[in-house]
Amino acid sequence: MAPNPRIEINLDKIKHNATTLKELYELKGIQITGVVKGVFARPEVVKVLIDSGIESIADSKISNIEKMKKANLQATFILLRTPAMSEIQKVVEFADISMNSELEVIRALSAEAKKKKKIHQIIVMVEMGDLREGILLKDVSSFIQEVLLLPNIQISGIGTNFACFGGVIPTEEKMSVFSSLVKKMKRKFGLPFPYISGGNSANHNWLMKTADVGEVNNLRLGESIFLGCETVNGAPIPNLFTDAFSFFAEVIESKLKPSVPIGYRGKNAFGEFISFPDRGIIRRAIVGVGRQDILVSGLTPLQPLEIIGSSSDHIILDTKRTFLKPGDEIAFSLNYGALLSAMTSPSVYKYMTFSTVVNRGSARK
Ligand SMILES: Cc1ncc(COP(=O)(O)O)c(C=O)c1O
Repeated sequence: MAPNPRIEINLDKIKHNATTLKELYELKGIQITGVVKGVFARPEVVKVLIDSGIESIADSKISNIEKMKKANLQATFILLRTPAMSEIQKVVEFADISMNSELEVIRALSAEAKKKKKIHQIIVMVEMGDLREGILLKDVSSFIQEVLLLPNIQISGIGTNFACFGGVIPTEEKMSVFSSLVKKMKRKFGLPFPYISGGNSANHNWLMKTADVGEVNNLRLGESIFLGCETVNGAPIPNLFTDAFSFFAEVIESKLKPSVPIGYRGKNAFGEFISFPDRGIIRRAIVGVGRQDILVSGLTPLQPLEIIGSSSDHIILDTKRTFLKPGDEIAFSLNYGALLSAMTSPSVYKYMTFSTVVNRGSARK
């Protein structure tokens, strides 16, 4: 029996998704940057993206970029989050490009790059309303002007981000405002800006529908490559696999028990007070994995079972009509949050799998 808990990672399905999206996006003049934080920059997976023809790879953690460089992966590595002041040295050493929104940080990058006799490239991040990172539209011009004075820094692009914090959708109107800004900056500064990076997997529907991508020539994709869906509605993208990852946990107890706890009740181990509907006696199974291993709310059992609760090391299921016994394995699908947590958890085994038969139909939800 394979070890538990484990996540199975189907490299062929990831390759199929990456290649399909790359070909589709290229028809619209868009290059893909592969965002690999969802798989904790696992080199075997990153290699699949590079082998699919994706030339730039991004991660929010400089330690992940260091890991990929040390694994001798060949790509342009982009730090997806504005660098922390405490990591400037590593950023200049390992990242080819970093995304930035603070002058003070870029000044520190410039000083470090000068010391190392390197040119550090940056993408200037613009705020389009999602209200996470980014320079307000009115400040972009003066920001670029200041950056141009700094030695050993090259502005390689302008970027923006959507639907990560505020859930703001990259509409046709938002994207055209972004493109107008880029056009103005190109004209004003006479710079080529090779990366005009207009967003992430939330941009999929905009890209498929728009007649004009404007100045945008790059999108940074994580979830659509790995889970095969766009992120505004969570809808599957046609012809992509949505099941490249599966999670497995082992039954450690299975009994008929009441559905409502017995006795006076206070808060549980997580400080929550939960109410339980009375379903009488139910068939309950416990699997040996919990909240310290994975984001339980991001798991969906692939059999007709229901997750009714969890603690640090246990998930409790109502198994309905299914008879389970200790040692049985339960398979789950994962959302992006569950994927992130499984991939970063040292107690979850990572298993690479391959499917030579590409059965697209099975992947559609
Ligand atoms: C700045 C930035 N760009 C791109 C992405 C990729 O987003 P998605 O996984 O939705 O494609 C993320 C999130 O991981 C991000 O923070």
